[in-house]
Order: sequence, then C-alpha cells, then structure tokens
Amino acid sequence: MSVKEIYKTLDYGPAPESDAEAKAWLASHKKKFDLFIGGKWVKAGGKPFTANNPASGAKLAMISQASKADVGKAVRAADAAGAQWRALSGHTRAKYLYALARLVQKHARVLAVLETLDNGKPIRETRDIDIPLVARHFYHHAGWASLQDSELAGYEPLGVVGQIIPWNFPLLMMAWKIAPALAAGNTVVMKPAEQTPLTALYFAELCMKAGLPDGVINIITGDGETGQAIVAHKGISKIAFTGSTEVGKFIRKATAGSGKDITLELGGKSPFIVFSDADLDSAVEGVVNAIWFNQGEVCCAGSRLLVSEAVADKFYKKLRRRMDKLRVGDPLDKTIDMGSLVDKTQLTRIQNMVAAGLKEGGEIYQADIPMPNKGCFMRPTLITGVDTACTLVREEIFGPVMVAMTFRTPDEAIQLANNTRYGLAASVWSENINTALDMAARIKAGVIWVNSTNQLDAAVGFGGMRESGYGREGGREGMLAYLKPKGAEGKPLVAVTPTALKSNTPETGIDKTPKNYVGGKQARPDGSSVMPVISASGKLLGEVGRGNRKDIRNAVEAATKASKWSSSTAHLRAQIIYYIGENLDARKDEFAQRIKSMTGCTLTAAKKEVAQSVECLFFYAGFADKFDGAVHAPPVRDIAIAMNEPLGIVGIVAPQAAPLLGFVSLLAPVIATGNRAVIIPSDVYPLAATDFYQVLETSDVPAGVVNIITGEHDVLTPTLAEHDEVNGLWYFGKAGGVASVEAASIGNLKQVWSHKEQQVDWAKAYGRRYMEKASQVKNIWVPYGA
Ligand code: NAI
Ligand code: MG
Repeated sequence: MSVKEIYKTLDYGPAPESDAEAKAWLASHKKKFDLFIGGKWVKAGGKPFTANNPASGAKLAMISQASKADVGKAVRAADAAGAQWRALSGHTRAKYLYALARLVQKHARVLAVLETLDNGKPIRETRDIDIPLVARHFYHHAGWASLQDSELAGYEPLGVVGQIIPWNFPLLMMAWKIAPALAAGNTVVMKPAEQTPLTALYFAELCMKAGLPDGVINIITGDGETGQAIVAHKGISKIAFTGSTEVGKFIRKATAGSGKDITLELGGKSPFIVFSDADLDSAVEGVVNAIWFNQGEVCCAGSRLLVSEAVADKFYKKLRRRMDKLRVGDPLDKTIDMGSLVDKTQLTRIQNMVAAGLKEGGEIYQADIPMPNKGCFMRPTLITGVDTACTLVREEIFGPVMVAMTFRTPDEAIQLANNTRYGLAASVWSENINTALDMAARIKAGVIWVNSTNQLDAAVGFGGMRESGYGREGGREGMLAYLKPKGAEGKPLVAVTPTALKSNTPETGIDKTPKNYVGGKQARPDGSSVMPVISASGKLLGEVGRGNRKDIRNAVEAATKASKWSSSTAHLRAQIIYYIGENLDARKDEFAQRIKSMTGCTLTAAKKEVAQSVECLFFYAGFADKFDGAVHAPPVRDIAIAMNEPLGIVGIVAPQAAPLLGFVSLLAPVIATGNRAVIIPSDVYPLAATDFYQVLETSDVPAGVVNIITGEHDVLTPTLAEHDEVNGLWYFGKAGGVASVEAASIGNLKQVWSHKEQQVDWAKAYGRRYMEKASQVKNIWVPYGA
C-alpha cells in the first residue's frame, strides 16, 4: 500500500474520554440530590424526577423538584444573606468570584464530562468551549466587582434576583447569570433546566469550597412550575431568563406591574449571509459552526442560510460534501463533531416540524454518514428551495437543521435577513469590508459576526432585539442590568385630577382648539371629540383633541416614515435639539404663563420649569454626539465594536404633573439617541405640549420625528403598548397604569420603562441612564490583528 492509499483508508479510532470521575461524584451522592439553600442541602417538597443521559438513555441521578414553599425558603435565604453580601467591599466580593473561577478551572475536566453526560453535547465542545467560557465569565466579573465603586459609581444592587436558565449551555448560562449578579452585590435564587441540572449541583459544591457566605447563591431544581413560583415571588426584585419566547412572554405578563426588572434572552432565527466574494471554504466551515455546533440547539445559531445566487450551487455542493464528513456519535468520544439532542421530546419535535414543513416545499439533504442506533441523534440537515412563507424559514427549529435561500443584491439580502420577528444574531461573509460593515449596520440584531460565527465573550454584551428579548448579558451593559441608581425609590405616585369646571366662559384670548401634531403637520383628531383643559381655579383654558386609536396609529405611521432620523448623524441631531432649546427660550414667558394658568403654581415656579426645560434640551443636545460606543478586545483574533443604536420608534406617555419639564425630559433623550417619538402629553395639563409643536415647527425637526397626540392616558396608552411597530415604551403617565402597559407590551416584546408608580423629581431626572434606556447595544465582531 502506498502512503497515499494508507491515508485514504485511515479511519478514526475511538478516543473516549473517561467518565469515571463524574460517575464517582454521582455515586458519592448516592445518585440523589437535594436543593442547595442557605449553604446546605435541603430536602424538597415536590416529586423527584430523573436526570438522564440522552445519548445512551441511562438514568444518571434522582433530582428534587422544588415546591412553592421551597422557593420561599430559597428567597428567604438569599434575602437574609443580602445585607452582608452588599456590605462587603468590591475587592472582597471579587476574591470570591476569583475563587470560583479558579475552582471551575481546577475541576474543568469533571465538569466537562458531567455536562456531556447530562446534555448529550460533545466533550470537544464542553471541554474547549463551555467550561473555559464559564471560568472566563467568573474572572471577568471578579474584575467588575473590584471596579464597581469607580466604574459603576452611583449604582446599587437590586436585591434578590431570580434566574431561570435553559438546557442548551447549562453551566455556561448559569455563569452568565450568576457572575454579574454577584459582582453587583445581589444574591441569587437560580433554577437550572430540568433536563440538565447536574453541573449546577456540582457548582453548588464549588460554592461551598470557595467559602461563599451561606445564602448568597441558592440553587433549586425543578421544572416550569418551580420557575413560575420564582417568577411570582414578591421577595424577588429581578427575573433574568433565558429560554423560549413563549415562556419569555409569559414572564413579562406574570411580572407586569410587580415592579420587578426583567431581562429576557429568547429565541432566534439568525441569518448566515454568504456573498459571492466570500471565502467559500471558510464560509462552509462557518456553517458547520453556525448550525451543527451544539446540535444546533443554540439560541443564536445561524439557522437561515442566505447565499448569493451567483455562488449558491457551488456553495451547496461544497456544503453537502462537508456534511458527509461530519461525525455524529458518542458525545464522550473526543473525535465526534455532533452529539445527541437533549432529549426525546426535542428530537420528536424537530422531526415532526421538518416533516410538516417539507409539505410546504423544499428539498432536504441529510448527511450520508454512519449514525448511532440508539439515543437522541439526528442527521445534520440542509433544506434548500424554500421561501419566506415557509414555516421552516419562519420558526425556530432549535436543532441541526439549516434552511437555505438565495439573494441577488445586498438590499435583497437585508430584506430577507430582517424578515423575521426575531433579532438575536447574524453572520456576514464577504471579503469586501464595505459590504460586510454595511450589512452589519443594517441588520436588526444584537450581535453581528463578520466572517465568523457563534463568538461569545464575557466582555461583549450579548442579547437580542424584537422577539429575541431584551437586556444584555456581559460587559458594562450586562452589569447595569443588575444595578439600579442609588436612592431610586421615590414616594408613591398619585394621579392628578383636574379641577372641577366652575365657569364655561373661556379665559380671554384663548379660543382655539389645538390639534394633534403628526408627520410634521397639525392634524385634526380622528374622533372629532375634544376635552376641556381647566385652570387651577376652575376656568376653561381651552380644549384639546380627545385622541383615539386611529390617531395613535397615524402617528406611528408618520414615525415609521421618518426612519432617516435613526441613521442621521449625531451632530445633526445635536444641532436640531439645540435649536429647539433656543426657540423655547425665546418664548419662555409665554410658556411660563401657560404653566401657571394650568397648574396654579407661582410664576417663579413656572419660569423655573421653563428654564429647566431649556437646560434639559441643551444637555441632551450636548450629549447626542458624545454617547459613544466601545471597542472590546475579547481574547480571540477579533475586536467587537459596541454601537449604541436607537430602539426605533419609542412611545412616550409623559407625566401628568410637570407639564413641560416632564415632557421635555423624556422627549429629548429619545430623539437625541436617534429614535422617533410618539408622545402623549399630560392629560390634565396638555397645553404646554401643544404650544410646543410651534417650537418644533420653527426648529427644523424633520417631519414624523416627533408626533404629539393629546387625550386621556388610559385611553391612548393601550394602542401604543400593543402596536407592533413601536419598539419601546416609556410610561411615566397616570398613576396605576404600569401593570396594564407591561402586560399589553408582550406582542412584539417591546421594552417598557416606567416610573414604577413612584414620583420622579424631574429637575434631577436626566443623565446617561436616559440615553442608555433609549438605545440598545449592537456588538459587531470583526476579525482584527494577529
Ligand atoms: P423553556 O422556555 O420552556 O425552558 C427554559 C427554562 O424555563 C427551564 O428552566 C424551564 O424549567 C423554565 N420554565 C418553563 N416554563 C416556565 C414558566 N412558565 N415560568 C418560569 N419558568 C419556566 O424551553 P424548553 O421547553 O426547554 O424548550 C422549548 C423551546 O424553547 C426550544 O425548542 C427552543 O426553541 C426554545 N429554547 C430557547 C433557548 C434559548 O437559548 N434561547 C433555550 C432553550 C429552549
Ligand atoms: Mg439530562
């Protein structure tokens, strides 16, 4: 035999990783686990369930189901530990996080094996990706704890946080959530997924080894019911969730009006875009990494392949050839590319989905390779010849199935890429830097990878837009999600009620009825109905439109057309906001009179409110071109460019009191960051806002950037909250409104920010936080350096 022939006939021998140590650990617990509460193992009230190895079907251990009462115990333990944990210096907390990082590294091998046994993913991945990233997260966040006083001054922890995670990256998702929570000074009630609880339980022991104070981390196992009890618990101030969009929406609804913060990291249908000038062989490897990494059970999986028509046939051919070289089998074998799906339920779900989807059209290719004859394995699958209407193109499959379509022009690629209700990630392949970065700017997703895919790092924020959820994990923005401004709690908000009308004769000189302001024009309200504006002494000051659903919809449509504002330069936005400030200042006396007549305050107080409003406009004009992003340097051959992007269209419900300052304090940061606004002014003192559109008209504000609809908060807000074209909602309106607004926002999972039913001191309510709330970070990973 020649050497060449030997090469051709060479095959992989088995290279199994030993599971002895992991098995010994399970045996040391008699294969039975309690809950980890207050630093101890505690018996659970619910009915135990089994942890299984999906690759072999073997039972691994009995796991406890935490009952509602157990959740209560865990929250009490976390609460009791809170005061002391918060009071520790950042340096001391850093030492604990550092100890956890070191312990993860010291036990890396057994953790990797345990993860593989429980989840079915290849040891190659748990060993080289999951566990090293877990350690990286604890190291990185040890640093944040040390830096908290200097880099995050003015913030304090939230309290007890509830964290609910999925089964696809069990220990990694836990690290993503626990590390920032602890660094910020919170204490934690964590629930791993019922399919994959084992590494979390091993981690509980590492917490004991690290000498972490009792109750700082509580790990309770159980299914969705336990999850629901965490979500509902009143002692928890924030829910951090990763999982399905369905449960994410449930959590938004269940926490509506509770005052709980939430961050949701949900599903995706991320595009993987290959241009004709891409390095096609690299892009093929990219696809392997995008959709067959972790069996495709990845929220940010590149699961929609978009290929330039010019190279599509060639690319598919290369890809099929590569698929036939993938190795699927025993996840503990170090030479295996793809392991087992997490359980039978997922396997069946995916197979049914593919079978049903193919009835709508499409051609299936499955890797022609040897497959194990038991366990939850599935062939790497490629489906071509589908279009945007197909279920398989629209729905998340969450398995090793790639669907492919072609495009002709970059514009068409963008249309296809953004034609989804999700917006988690995207991968762009082109050797032309202009093409790649132009796409990166135009794709609606939280993370963009140029000529790479599935890159993750603790320093780089991760999270989605639209129905992929909101909030970021990692980096500074990830830390902010576990903090609140110091002393944020105000007095309870009370509704402002109009004075009773004593005389119907209007104040002299006021006889006009201000209209709405839509698309740069004054617009008569749709319902031809008006509501009175009454002075503090009971006189009729004027009448404003009583807006309805149609008015809100028209305003949103006008805002949609003004999309250019979102890509305009910050310098231009700054200039226009300065101009608004200047024009308001020119009419300060008139505005002061107006405020005085509506609210009955002194002229001095009214003048002060106008002066503060002018100052506020100058503040955000000044900030517009200084709200820079960042360039992260993750430990790979890439940089990640963190861009602050506007949310898009932001609905604002302005406070009832502070008719001008409240209005301006919310509007200015929203438009300074490049959003278009639909704003509902105070429904008791609306005339300052309707006067304001004359200021806008003289300030070169492009049509549709600011739209003002007057009317009752309770009537107008639901339409804004439900509208799918509205991306964010700032509710600072009438007391008692937050719960229904949050519940109504779940359609497109828009971000709601509110007063949480507390009074806001508008004279002090400005700063970077407003800019942050009006924007979202997009991280663009670009290959860079050696
Ligand atoms: P899931 O969203 O039901 O489960 C995720 C976590 O939430 C688990 O810990 C679960 O116990 C918990 N949970 C379930 N119902 C809950 C409730 N009502 N309240 C509070 N917590 C609850 O996801 P599942 O059923 O495991 O997978 C279904 C689909 O979800 C997948 O096929 C995939 O499409 C998607 N998914 C997305 C993930 C991601 O990383 N974005 C991860 C896992 C699943
Ligand atoms: Mg399992």
